[in-house]
Amino acid sequence: MKNILIIGATSAIAQACARYWLQHSNDCHFVLTGRDQQKLAAIQSDLQIRGAVAVDCLPFDLADESGRASLLERVEQLMPQLDRVLVAPGSLPDQQRCQTDESYAAQAFQLNANAIVLLLERLAGKLEQQRSGKLIVISSVAGDRGRMSNYFYGAAKAAVTTFCSGLMMRLQKAEVSVSIVKPGFVRTPMTADLELPEKLVATPEQVARVIVDGAEKCRSVIYAPGFWLLIMTIIKLIPNFVFRRLSL
Ligand SMILES: NC(=O)c1ccc[n+]([C@@H]2O[C@H](COP(=O)([O-])OP(=O)(O)OC[C@H]3O[C@@H](n4cnc5c(N)ncnc54)[C@H](OP(=O)(O)O)[C@@H]3O)[C@@H](O)[C@H]2O)c1
Repeated sequence: MKNILIIGATSAIAQACARYWLQHSNDCHFVLTGRDQQKLAAIQSDLQIRGAVAVDCLPFDLADESGRASLLERVEQLMPQLDRVLVAPGSLPDQQRCQTDESYAAQAFQLNANAIVLLLERLAGKLEQQRSGKLIVISSVAGDRGRMSNYFYGAAKAAVTTFCSGLMMRLQKAEVSVSIVKPGFVRTPMTADLELPEKLVATPEQVARVIVDGAEKCRSVIYAPGFWLLIMTIIKLIPNFVFRRLSL
């Protein structure tokens, strides 16, 4: 049996990953966490219909510090061994508002960076102890280079990426793989209101395939879809004196 813990299971990308895992393995046990119990129950039914051996739901709001502290104990009761852990939560704050509203900016940074890395540290301890498993963390291409249009979000994702890079080295000694996922534009509720360049926009299903296949191969960094590796390599190579003049 494959034991899969999904933090932020209501994410469109996370849901697509769960469905993709089930397409390839009919012996999956899921523990789904999220703050919206109705949405979680709907996802639970969907995964059960698709053949999951068991699906448990745990209420969890990443922003709640005491919830973070007790999460692992609650997970342990349902799933003593973790084979795959997918960490998906994130929110795309309004950059303009971040520039003028410090408490809004702090809240966004707290969720996308602080809360994620503190949770990852707890998960890392558990995985290190059991000496097996794969940790898959959704960061973003936005963390590769700060841009005018979303540098609050990008800086938080950069923090997650850097943290995971260190965690990867630590956990390798315990035979635990860490995959940092960097999606480009994906059509999900998070981006529903944005005008995006259609040719570069992927579906959650396309991205899920790349994430799950990449993690199974223990890839350290997974650009999703893969062409974002080329785009971001070029973007990172643009010298600052040119980059600062671009309206990105
Ligand atoms: N879509 C893209 O273009 C894109 C690109 C790069 C990276 N990403 C990253 O991919 C991940 C998944 O996002 P998605 O695209 O699948 O978007 P999504 O469907 O909108 O999912 C966002 C997830 O984050 C959760 N979340 C938001 N605020 C939260 C909070 N305060 N506490 C706990 N959970 C919270 C949401 O929970 P609720 O359902 O309760 O709101 C939901 O599960 C995120 O980390 C995002 O930054 C997305």
